[in-house]
Order: sequence, then C-alpha cells, then structure tokens
Amino acid sequence: MNRAALRVSLPLLAALGRAGASSEDDQEDGGEDSPHSQEKGPGHSHWSYEDREHWGVDYPDCGGTMQSPINIETAKTIFSPELRPIQLSGYSLPASEKLKLRNNGHTVLLELPKSLAITGGYAQQYRAVQLHLHWGSPLGPGSEHTINGHRFAAEIHVVHYNTKYESIEEAMVHPDGLAVLGAFLEVGPKENPYYQEILEHLHKIQREGEEVLVSGFNIAGLLPDNLKLYFHYNGSLTTPPCYQTVKWTVFNQTMLLSHKQMLMLVTSLRNDDSKPLQNNYRLVQGLHGRRVLASFQTTLISTKHSRGGDGSAAAEGHSSSSFHAGDVLAVLFGVLFAVTALAFLLYIYKHRSQNTRLDSPTKSKVIYTAATTENTA
Ligand SMILES: *[C@@H]1O[C@H](CO)[C@@H](O)[C@H](O)[C@H]1NC(C)=O
Ligand SMILES: *[C@@H]1O[C@H](CO)[C@@H](O)[C@H](O)[C@H]1NC(C)=O
Ligand SMILES: [Zn+2]
Repeated sequence: MNRAALRVSLPLLAALGRAGASSEDDQEDGGEDSPHSQEKGPGHSHWSYEDREHWGVDYPDCGGTMQSPINIETAKTIFSPELRPIQLSGYSLPASEKLKLRNNGHTVLLELPKSLAITGGYAQQYRAVQLHLHWGSPLGPGSEHTINGHRFAAEIHVVHYNTKYESIEEAMVHPDGLAVLGAFLEVGPKENPYYQEILEHLHKIQREGEEVLVSGFNIAGLLPDNLKLYFHYNGSLTTPPCYQTVKWTVFNQTMLLSHKQMLMLVTSLRNDDSKPLQNNYRLVQGLHGRRVLASFQTTLISTKHSRGGDGSAAAEGHSSSSFHAGDVLAVLFGVLFAVTALAFLLYIYKHRSQNTRLDSPTKSKVIYTAATTENTA
C-alpha cells in the first residue's frame, strides 16, 4: 500500500515542481559568460591561455587552494535554504547611456556604470564593474565552470565589488571583496536580443585594445530570469592574478543564443598574437575541501528537468541533505492518498448495501402509485 502510494505521489510532486520551475523558465534569452575582474592585469597582459599551467610562476595565487573555476557535482552540493534569490538593481540602462565595449586580448569586456548593484542574495552590497565572456571554438565548448563534468558552450561573468571598499582594486585583495555572477550559454532556436546588443559590435573590435561605445540596454537580460536557483562557493578570479577573493554565484538556468550568434562570438575576435581569440577558458581547479552550496534541492530538481538519467543517479548517491523534505512530503501524500482511498471504498460499500435494501421498496412504491392513479382516473 505504502509503496503504491509513494509511486503515485512522487511523480505528482515532480509535476508540481516542474510547473513551478517552468513558469520561471519561459524566458531563456540572455547569455552566460564567465566573470573575471581584471582580464588584462594591471600593467599589461603577459599571460596567455596557452600558458595557463604556468600562471603560478608569475602569479603565486594561481597555485592556491581556493581557485576557480571548478566542476560542480550537483549530488555533492549542500542545500542551503538561507541562500535567498539574487536581486539586481539599476541593471536596466537607457539607450542614451553609452558603455565601453573592449577587446582586451583575452575576452570581450563591457564596462558597467556604478549604478548597477547586487542588493539581495549576498550578505553585503556589491557594485558592478564589468562583464565579459569565456568561450570555445567552432569545434568545441568553452565555459569555465562545468556541471557534473559537462562543459557548456560559453559562460558570462558579471563582476562586482563590495561597496565597503573604495574601488575594485582595493576590494580584490580582500577575502570578501568580489562577487561574480556566472551563467552558462547554450545554443537554442532563437536569436537572443540582449546578447545581440553586444555581438553586433564585435566586428569593430577585432584587434586587441580596440573599443567601441554601445548603447545602454537591460543588462539583466544577459542573465537568467530565474535568479533563485544557483550554486555558491568561495573561489578566485579565473585569470591572473587569480586572487582568492571571489564569492561565486553560478546560476542553474542557462541562457540561449542562436547558432549564428554563438558562431559570431567564437569567431569575431583576435588575441594579442593576432590569432583567433578562442578557448579563453581556464581548466577546472581542485576543490581542496571547499563546500559548494545550492539554493535549491538539486535531487528534486533533476527529476523535473529531464536531462538524461542524472536525476535518479543523484538521488540514490545522495543521502542526508537532500533526502529530507522530499521524502517527508512523499510519505505525507502517500498517507493522504491511502486515507482518501479507504474512505471512498467505505462509502461505496455502505452506499451499495443501502441501495440493495432500498431498491425494491422504492420500485414497488412507484408501481403502487401508478396503479393508484390509474384507478382514480
Ligand atoms: C566562504 O568564506 C567565508 C569566510 O571565510 C565563510 O564564512 C563561508 O562559510 C564560506 N562559504 C562557503 C560556501 O564555504
Ligand atoms: C541544474 O540543476 C539540475 C539539478 O541538480 C542539474 O541536473 C543540472 O545539470 C543543473 N544545470 C546547471 C546549468 O546548473
Ligand atoms: Zn571570467
């Protein structure tokens, strides 16, 4: 009985969850890029992605134990209900405001005005400085973070610094100095109008150091609609000097760009050697005991987003943190279902025996009545 009830209630829960999630999911347009604050480095950029195994020589922090990016294994994340939705303010810019878009030889970087800020989701307030992207090539994906070993096509990083510091330069050397919002970009069926605001200018900044002014738009459109579902961990800049001062937010919802847009991103720019600027991502770094928090129950969600069999595998592999709420609910629904079914059966049974008793008298009554009327007529 209990088993049957569970079987009924689990898909129901999954369906409920799915309904909730999809309503927040409908707007997939945006982008994902990866974050970095100083792609270029203070003086000039000597480092290169080809040289990424040796960054630690010139920049000691790059050899540290709290480095980014990381692979996020969803089944090992720790569900933390106190992780509130990320709140953005001032992200919607008028077209009259002009922003600098620059090819710095490592990435395309959009400078952001001071009015943009994270006002919720973090314990402190953070002000935006810039955003930039990481990508692969026509032959392969190039996100920096990976999820369960999966690398996405590209990644957007929106870099912020703690308002308790005067500048990004001061903030980036303090443990609570930086907050970077990261989201993944994937190929979808439609052109993404927000990303188009950036991509359509890339042909004007093909060479390192070139820049162009772009009109303001709603920068929040580059990030997912759903700012509630995310992963959080303590890490670093993913380019030299690799300071370990970044509180990372990696969103669970991805952004969709058309195939043509993705191709534009990965083929438009050249680096300092005048070679194609491609595969500008750093390989994942060791966790070294760090915890990765999740704002949501990764095991419940994975049954909703039907992405292969990850979901059930994760559910089995994980024991403590994610088992509680889901199972309590499932058992509750099961018991509720059982009680309802029992009551219904009881009702049917009673009603039936009543009917068998009443049936004939009622009928005969009608016959009697009919007979009487006929008699009187
Ligand atoms: C990040 O570091 C801060 C300060 O050391 C610590 O309080 C916090 O718990 C860490 N966060 C995670 C997810 O481990
Ligand atoms: C989102 O979370 C689900 C559930 O854990 C997971 O299966 C999926 O891979 C995640 N995707 C991203 C981009 O985080
Ligand atoms: Zn970055």
